[in-house]
Amino acid sequence: MNDEKPAAPLTLPAMKLWGGRFETGPSEVFERFSNSLHFDKRLLEADVKGSQAFARSLARAGVLTDAECDRIFDAFESIRVDAASPGFFDGATDEDVHTFVIRKLGERVGALAGKIHTGRSRNEQVSLDTRLWLRGECDRSRELLRALMAALLKLAGQYPDAVIPGYTHLRRAQPVLWPHYLLAYFEMFARDHERFTEARRRTNVMPLGSGALAGSGFPHDREAIACDLGFDEITRNSMDVSADRDFALDYLYAASVTTIHLSRLAEDWILYSSEEFGWMELGDGVTSGSSLMPQKKNPDSLELIRGKSGRVLGALNSLLFTMKGLPLTYNRDMQEDKEPLFDAADQINGCLEMARVVAESVTLRVQVPANAADESWVVATDLAEALARNGTAFHTAHRIVGRLVLDSVRNGKKPGDWNAKSLAQFAPEFTPDVARLLDPREGMKTREIAGGTGPKTVAAALVEARKRLGEMA
Ligand code: ARG
Repeated sequence: MNDEKPAAPLTLPAMKLWGGRFETGPSEVFERFSNSLHFDKRLLEADVKGSQAFARSLARAGVLTDAECDRIFDAFESIRVDAASPGFFDGATDEDVHTFVIRKLGERVGALAGKIHTGRSRNEQVSLDTRLWLRGECDRSRELLRALMAALLKLAGQYPDAVIPGYTHLRRAQPVLWPHYLLAYFEMFARDHERFTEARRRTNVMPLGSGALAGSGFPHDREAIACDLGFDEITRNSMDVSADRDFALDYLYAASVTTIHLSRLAEDWILYSSEEFGWMELGDGVTSGSSLMPQKKNPDSLELIRGKSGRVLGALNSLLFTMKGLPLTYNRDMQEDKEPLFDAADQINGCLEMARVVAESVTLRVQVPANAADESWVVATDLAEALARNGTAFHTAHRIVGRLVLDSVRNGKKPGDWNAKSLAQFAPEFTPDVARLLDPREGMKTREIAGGTGPKTVAAALVEARKRLGEMA
């Protein structure tokens, strides 16, 4: 390596990585239409790291001398550093990030830059760069999921005994414990975490050495490149590499299922924090006021989490439709993968972070959902099951309790207005022991089944969830 102070890099005009076979250049309209630098510049760091590893591989293959490799490597390093400064891309009209990076290399090492693309195709390069970038995004999404899950467990632990009505059809159905409700989301997010882990595994496969589609004509040690860049394995078919965006689809699918879970959580909490439900208070920090109505405290953070899910689901669909029916192998259509992928990653990570902050801000007004459970007939199933345990056929038990509810609704009675005596008068099947089930807390004790809302089961599930989260990485 030379220690002379390098001359300030000259600036070369945009050039193409092709052109020899053309008599005229591309039209201005075509260039404007097809250039991707304005969005794929996001892959610069990945492009530089991948190119450094490729330079080392070219040296191992005898295409570059060690000195040439060092010069190229250092120049790439300076590009990587300079890219952080504002204005680095100003005025650039290059076709894409790969072309831009090679032009920058040329500005720093002159004619030697002409060797870096030996036997390399942008088709494999774009696969490599996207994989390198996306594997980082998978890790980020996984980390944000774990932080959200931790916040949900904390919120569960704050109100371990709170009773809420569980809903079906958005009608009060059966009483459940507040931690049991939150653990349902914990399970969804745990599955999402697995999906992102799997998406990472499929992404973390090294494609370089595939050439445009037929495999490189130079003797690369592909395993060594994989090792250099932290990939777990190498791709097995060069045509597959040029044609494949499955790894991006896998990420988008993981993001899509996650966004659905987040959107449903947001919807629940928008409802639960409304005046109509009134169970839950969202922190001031995650709500907005109205420019006109002074009393308003709107759940905008949750509405945006619900709203952004449309973009993430759109991104998955966009890429699915782009890929459908493309002939093997690479087609320029595939450049359309990036904007949806970048946007989906930004949105899902933004939503995960926002959801954690909302969860940390929540206060439960414990008495409100408890009253909602007491005042409704969420105990009806508990009563019917008690009759069945005492020997009444369930069908008959169901009808008896149904009549009890009808009678109560007609006469404005709540479960608490009944007792052992009045129940026995209503139907002889109601033996004295059944009356305690008029209290929702008593019915829950009959559900100490694995996965159920029995208090002991839920307490154990919470302990187990904390342990599982601790073991996730
Ligand atoms: N920018 C392109 C993409 O993102 C890669 C360029 C490959 N172009 C080509 N004509 N083979 O897909």
